[in-house]
Amino acid sequence: MNSLKKVELEEMIRTVPNFPSEGILFRDITTALKDKKGLKLIIEDFTKRYENKGIDYVLGADARGFIFGAALAYNIGAGFVPARKPGKLPAKTVREEYTLEYGTNAIEVHEDAIEKGAKVVIIDDLLATGGTAKAMINLMNKLEANIYELAFLIELEDLKGRELIGDYSVYSILKY
Ligand code: PRP
Ligand code: ADE
Ligand code: MG
Repeated sequence: MNSLKKVELEEMIRTVPNFPSEGILFRDITTALKDKKGLKLIIEDFTKRYENKGIDYVLGADARGFIFGAALAYNIGAGFVPARKPGKLPAKTVREEYTLEYGTNAIEVHEDAIEKGAKVVIIDDLLATGGTAKAMINLMNKLEANIYELAFLIELEDLKGRELIGDYSVYSILKY
């Protein structure tokens, strides 16, 4: 995405101080999502990056990762797999606990969701401490999937999520 479009998109993201707790600067993507141009800019950028790459699945993180993940999967002709918060998936799952910028949680995928060796893009709206992303990586490693890249709309660079992610390739459209 060119820098003009990035500035345009950045202006669509609302910053809310002290949400969900004191000291957190919350980057609210709903204001960009509701903007017809904003949603298009985001999905087109991800599509351009991952089309014709032989991606089998897009793995989206519950909940905000679903918004971009399903649209991206549709555009590139891949399957969409939801990684869900605990207790939501009905069949047999694998599970990972994690900490994030403002709490702890766990995430699960169906153990038959992705075949061994399948090429996967992991997607979420935002990379903060990397706790959520690392949990998604661990889930994919449990299923022996092949992680092509991790994709985010926003990366909060101060929180050094990339360091936790390690050697996997990371793509983010906007950096704060
Ligand atoms: C938010 C965001 C990312 C995660 C990033 O999810 O959507 O998934 O935090 O933080 P981290 O890098 O420190 O792990 P959250 O679980 O708060 O809410 P959501 O259900 O709205 O996606
Ligand atoms: N998830 C983790 N940290 C966040 C932040 N600062 N804004 C929005 N979502 C987040
Ligand atoms: Mg999330």
